[in-house]
Amino acid sequence: MRRKLAAGNWKMNGDSALLAELGTLANSQGDSAPQIIICPPAPLLTRAVDITKDSAIGIGGQDCHPNTSGAHTGDVAAPMIHDTGARSVIVGHSERRSAHQENDAVVRAKTKAAWAADLTAILCIGESEEERIGPDTLAIIAAQLDASTPNGATGDNTVIAYEPIWAIGTGRVPTLEQIIETHDMIRAELTKRFGDEGDKIRILYGGSVKPGNAAEIFQAENVDGALVGGASLKAEDFQPIIDALAAS
Ligand code: PGA
Repeated sequence: MRRKLAAGNWKMNGDSALLAELGTLANSQGDSAPQIIICPPAPLLTRAVDITKDSAIGIGGQDCHPNTSGAHTGDVAAPMIHDTGARSVIVGHSERRSAHQENDAVVRAKTKAAWAADLTAILCIGESEEERIGPDTLAIIAAQLDASTPNGATGDNTVIAYEPIWAIGTGRVPTLEQIIETHDMIRAELTKRFGDEGDKIRILYGGSVKPGNAAEIFQAENVDGALVGGASLKAEDFQPIIDALAAS
């Protein structure tokens, strides 16, 4: 059984006031709820860990450098994220891939760095709109998955987030059929490559998940949860998504 996971990606949003919002969410969780991870910007990690320490909420980073230390102004190393008490990190988000020219090889190196620091990598993949319209959508996503994921992925060290680039922050989502087809393909690729362990790796859907569409998306067998951007910034939006996941 794969434990359901609701992960919130705050992106470059958040301050002390938003951390207080996290406290509200923490207090409303029961023991049997899905796993919840919030990924705030790096300067908030320590305080986020502190606020959530007596709750079921885990904290994660949004990116890590492939190296453990060195002359990389502005970057954050995976062991530093672990040192804050965070236990996961997003790697390969499409905004990093496009704005920071991160290719699959870089994402693979970052994933290895996350593992070496005892962090679970939430590894993002997903197609552009042009690739969705074209004939090779699934093959393109499969190639990205293969090239971004290092050997040795397990259900503990890796979560895959399928996020169509054109669905992120746009209010547009793929059809349920497209989500099912894509997640089934990702599951098949993971089990082909990693055997039984591939069946334990959770696959999240991401891209405009909202309280109004979450329940439908969570119907898909190989959707193990969601990576949520905008709707994770307010407990009143994120909580119904968590509740829909718990009910799925
Ligand atoms: P969104 O972002 O939920 O705001 O579309 C998702 C993401 O980028 O992870």
